Amino acid sequence: MRAVWEADVDLVVVGSGVAGLTAALDAAELGLRVVVVTKDATDAGSTRWAQGGIAVVVGDVPGDSVGAHVADTLAAGAGLSDAAAVTEIIAEGPAAVARLRARGAVFDPGTDGRLARTREGGHSAFRVVHAGGDATGAEVERALVAASSDRRLPLLTGHVAVDAVRDELGAVVGLTVLDDAGLPGVLWAPAVLLASGGYGQLYASTTNPGEATGDGVALALRAGATAADLEFVQFHPTVLYAHDPFARSSSRRTPAVGRRPLVTEAVRGEGAVLLDRAGRRFMTGVHPLADLAPRDVVAAAITRTLAETGAECVHLDATAIPQFALRFPTVYAACRHAGIDPVREPIPVTPAAHYACGGVVTDLHGRTAVPGLYAAGEVARTGLHGANRLASNSLLEGLVVGARAARAVVADRQVLHGTGLARPVPSTAVPLAPRAVVQRAMTGAAGIGRDAAGLAAASDAVEAVTALGLPVDRAGVEDAALTLLAQAVLAAAGHRTESRGCHVRTDFPERDDVWQRTSLVVGLDTAGRPVVLEETAVAA
Ligand code: SIN
Repeated sequence: MRAVWEADVDLVVVGSGVAGLTAALDAAELGLRVVVVTKDATDAGSTRWAQGGIAVVVGDVPGDSVGAHVADTLAAGAGLSDAAAVTEIIAEGPAAVARLRARGAVFDPGTDGRLARTREGGHSAFRVVHAGGDATGAEVERALVAASSDRRLPLLTGHVAVDAVRDELGAVVGLTVLDDAGLPGVLWAPAVLLASGGYGQLYASTTNPGEATGDGVALALRAGATAADLEFVQFHPTVLYAHDPFARSSSRRTPAVGRRPLVTEAVRGEGAVLLDRAGRRFMTGVHPLADLAPRDVVAAAITRTLAETGAECVHLDATAIPQFALRFPTVYAACRHAGIDPVREPIPVTPAAHYACGGVVTDLHGRTAVPGLYAAGEVARTGLHGANRLASNSLLEGLVVGARAARAVVADRQVLHGTGLARPVPSTAVPLAPRAVVQRAMTGAAGIGRDAAGLAAASDAVEAVTALGLPVDRAGVEDAALTLLAQAVLAAAGHRTESRGCHVRTDFPERDDVWQRTSLVVGLDTAGRPVVLEETAVAA
């Protein structure tokens, strides 16, 4: 790639969600010259769409404790969460939330002067703090964007990150980017932090915005890092199943396609129940927590119910919740736009792709295996989520690990000076498949309920339309990432011959103890193809 411009900084942060802006603000406060790179507007990523809240134990809820939050997270993670990651990240939650409030985020107050709390699937207590009723992510994003603007943090919007530039020893010395017109640039820096979110756009129906195309994971793999737990794609049990009169995409015609409005789990936390087409509750008897079971359990039960009844959606009856429009203004507005009145009638819902539990392998400070390359937030795999993320643990992880990564970059500066001799800026052709084919293959074969034959056929279908090409614009970079991620997820999902957490195999429907503490690590082979490199033991 021949850059038409270059700039020099200490740290490039890719992504402006909770992890990216927290890291960028902290790094700037620690004296680093930082630039934040985003594909769209600063607030266009996944953070602003988070509804439920932030799971955190600050010690003012009788009967709740950090230990109980840890236990719930481990239970949701279905044997694959790293105990040290869970303990450390959750223990730092209260300080991280206090810091966020000091930066201006306002959470909903309760009636007694303490913060209001709600409950979501898998939580044994009311411990989720929220803002604007069900607009927590939007408030978090607002506060961090405002703090960034107060601090005059340099933001490079409308630029997609392409590849890490590395020196001859493999250390990161910069990042190549393309702007909206396809003009290339290079940001020279000894540290690049990926905070670019997940890969929900692998699927035709997702809660994720269009940005979530897995660019960060793909970039890290191409730079020599590894990824793990990629097969654990979490499906949110309840997205609105209705035509969206405001959508510009195909969701206007097809009620379950495109970016779907979330119906937060907190609606069930406050008493709503799921009904099948005959109006029967179907979660009772499936799990002791019934409608508030961890979301992998609820999403799988909905999928089974749809298959058994032939219905296209189930219903969420929230009519008993007092002041629904005040408590859940975002959900209420989405329902009303679709012509549904949740105060009087059950809400039609289905599951949709929601969160990547796996990602780039990092330590608890965001460090990857590549010197100078860091990752935090949904793009990373710290070991917190295991096989299934506990609701509202993601904003928490972004806050904690984003801050830790900023400190790690500062601490590593002495060793991350590179050789001064950068490798030529990479411009290698990469495998590219049409997005529609990738989404069709993944939706058909790699959703809730996978089997060996379907996964292999999906891989063949993607392979058949893949050709080598040089991405010249944002769409090309995204398509390359989705192509790589599809093959990586299919490889990992085919390798794990059991069902666990959000990985549901119809040909291996039970958990298998052989896999109990085994995480699948994916990397690129010498031909640049994603392969399962190893099965590693997860610390209990
Ligand atoms: C929700 O509010 O149900 C989603 C929040 C999350 O994914 O943690």
